[in-house]
Parts: sequence; structure tokens; C-alpha cells
Amino acid sequence: MKRSDVEQKLGTARTCLFPNYRPYPLIFERGDGCRVWDSEGREYVDFVAGIATCNLGHCHPAVTEAIRRQAANLLHVSNWYYNTPQIDLARRLTELTSMDRVFFCNSGAEAAEAAIKVARKTAFEEHGSGKNTVISLKGAFHGRTMKALTATDPKHHIEAFSPYPEGFVHIEAGDIQGLRDHLPDACAFFMEPIQGEGGVRPVDPGFVKEAADLCRANNVLLMMDEVQTGVGRCGVLFAYELFGIKPDIITLAKGLGNGFPIGAVLASEQAASHLGPGSHGSTFGGNPLACSAALATINTVVEQDLPHRAGKMGRILSEGLEDLVQSEPAALEVRGTGLLIGLELNIKAAPVVQQLIQRGYLTTVVQEHTLRFTPPLTVTEEDIHGLIDALRDTLLSRGGSS
Ligand SMILES: Cc1ncc(COP(=O)(O)O)c(C=O)c1O
Repeated sequence: MKRSDVEQKLGTARTCLFPNYRPYPLIFERGDGCRVWDSEGREYVDFVAGIATCNLGHCHPAVTEAIRRQAANLLHVSNWYYNTPQIDLARRLTELTSMDRVFFCNSGAEAAEAAIKVARKTAFEEHGSGKNTVISLKGAFHGRTMKALTATDPKHHIEAFSPYPEGFVHIEAGDIQGLRDHLPDACAFFMEPIQGEGGVRPVDPGFVKEAADLCRANNVLLMMDEVQTGVGRCGVLFAYELFGIKPDIITLAKGLGNGFPIGAVLASEQAASHLGPGSHGSTFGGNPLACSAALATINTVVEQDLPHRAGKMGRILSEGLEDLVQSEPAALEVRGTGLLIGLELNIKAAPVVQQLIQRGYLTTVVQEHTLRFTPPLTVTEEDIHGLIDALRDTLLSRGGSS
């Protein structure tokens, strides 16, 4: 595309789309593996991967072929009927986790919404009407629908959206006493194993283990939001495995379809049994196209042992970033596991991201001072070293005071 055409398209975007995002002035046309190309043919190494989504890399042949084949066969029938990819994907997900049943939806927020409904209904039917509080963590992010947003850290709550749904409380990660105080009235404790949007903040394993025991003792469902951490990203297939616990519910989206929209709630038999006919649903949830893409994705992640690769590449990335912490005053701390990694800076991260774009690397900002790296799990050592060099040059050029 000529520069003038790009400017015209950007102008149209700015006038026709809702102004709820603040995108960089880049229009992407093509992706392959860890690389994407913009409308002027410029190449970028992608350490965003659609925000921890394209775990196999862009346009992975197995996923492309599954979508192509399914699109020529059957796109949609609704949940008045079954379809084969939906059944096969549900079976695969229950084989690969400690969960018994699956509900399909279209996004992470929808999965959170459904999970909260499961928890409320389970508690109501097993323990009566008073046990309905959802406990979540300060710094949490669970999505943008009203209940998912209410479970999200209150700093994301915009007053103009009031009133927010009732029955939600937030505690600090690690605050066992705060958790104990709320458990008698609670139906669920909802948490991310690593808070992604909250600044790439791992939750202390000791706290998670104790919380899991307390939840069990108090008939409270432990719900793990694995929308960002799941599907191999954290060096294991699902990050709850890192804690040696068994959640009652897991929410998934992002990496599940490698870029094709799909969400899922995985649950124990006991919890899932409460969502009887008519209690919840989604027109597109479980549609054959999305489930084909997700089945190809999860099978490829397992066959190619990508969680192991994520662990190995994550260590190489973390070591490179740790070196920067030693040498660059602007770099303060490296956090995260596998290929969900954050670098805390003592300068604002947004201008660093801008400069990295100029150098051909895509990254994201979380919590103003943290750079987040979530490349495809197929990222190479060479690309990681390239990013570290570009980042070192960027930090050097910015000085690195406060
Ligand atoms: C942990 C977590 N949960 C839920 C969501 C919401 O997912 P979606 O944007 O697909 O609704 C996100 C999105 O960033 C997330 O990181």
C-alpha cells in the first residue's frame, strides 16, 4: 500500500471505529510464525502474539488447514445439535486437564461470566441463597463484561458504568486472613495464576495451596482464570499444574484457538451439573469452525511439546532481561514464568514500546511501567537475542532515570 493510501485508511479507522482503543498507527496485512508485516511491507518480530494468543505463531499450517477444511464442510449449526469438532475438543480438553466437562463460548470475558454463573448456581442449589460472594484479587483482570469487570481490580471500574453487580469482594494476593473472612459467604475464589494485565505478577504458590485447601473446607469453588496463562504459555500446559492443586473451574480463551475466537469453561462434574438446560448458552459457543481451529491448536501444542519449549525459551528471555537489569539503570525487575514475562522499568514503558516498533519489535505495556513479552511459543533464541539488543539500545538512548 502507498503511504497516502495508508494515511487514508488510518483516517477512516479513526472516524468509523469506536474510540475505545488507542492503537498504534500500524495496519497489519500478513503473519507467518513469529513475524508480521504491515501494509507497507515492513517486517516486525512479534513479542505480543495477539496478546498471548497466537501461541503456535501466526498462520500455523495445522490451524490454517483445519479452518480451511472445516469452512468448506460446515460453519455453524447452533446448540440445538451436536457437531463433531465440539465433541472431540471437549473430550481432548478433559483428557488433558483434571476437569470433567466443558462449556464453549467465544471469549475470555464470556468464560468468566459463565464461570461466575456456575459458581452462584452451585452454591445456591447446594447451600442456599446466602452463599454468593465472588472473591477475587486486587490487580486481577477477568474481562470487560459487567460481572467479569466487577471481579477485575476496582481501578478498572468506571463510575459511569454504575451500578456494578453486587456480591464481589477483592483481597490482596497473599492475604489468607482476608480470604478466611469472606469464605463463609462465598461461592467462588477466582484468580489468575500469574496476573497478566496486573503487571505480570505471579501469585505466591504457598498462598495458592493454602487457599485451595480453605476453599475446599468452606465449600467454595476455586476458579482459575487461565485465559492468559493457559495452553502452554507458562512452561506447562495449564499454569495451575505449577501449584500441585486441582481447581474446580478453569476459564480459557486467547491461546485456545491460536487467534480464532473461542472461550471455554472447564469444570468438575459436580459444578458443571448445576448448569442444566436453559440456564446458560451462546449461539456461537462450540461452533464447528472455532472448535476445529482449537483442536488443531491444542493437538499441535501437545505433539510438539511446546510447553517445554516455552519454559526453555522463557529462561533464555529472562536471563537476557536479567542482564539488562544488571547493566541498565532503567531496568528494575524481571517477573513471570515461561513466555509470560514482564520487565519493570523506572521510566514509562509506552515510549519504549514506540521505539521498539521503530526497531522492528512488537511488545506491550502493562501497568504503565512494565513491558510485557508474550511471543509465540515457537520463538527462536535468535529472535530473543535480537529483542534484547534492540531493548538495550532503546534503554541506553533513553537514559533511564525516573
Ligand atoms: C486473565 C484474563 N482473563 C480474561 C480476559 C478477557 O478475555 P477477552 O478479552 O477474550 O474477553 C483477559 C484478557 O486480557 C485476561 O488476560
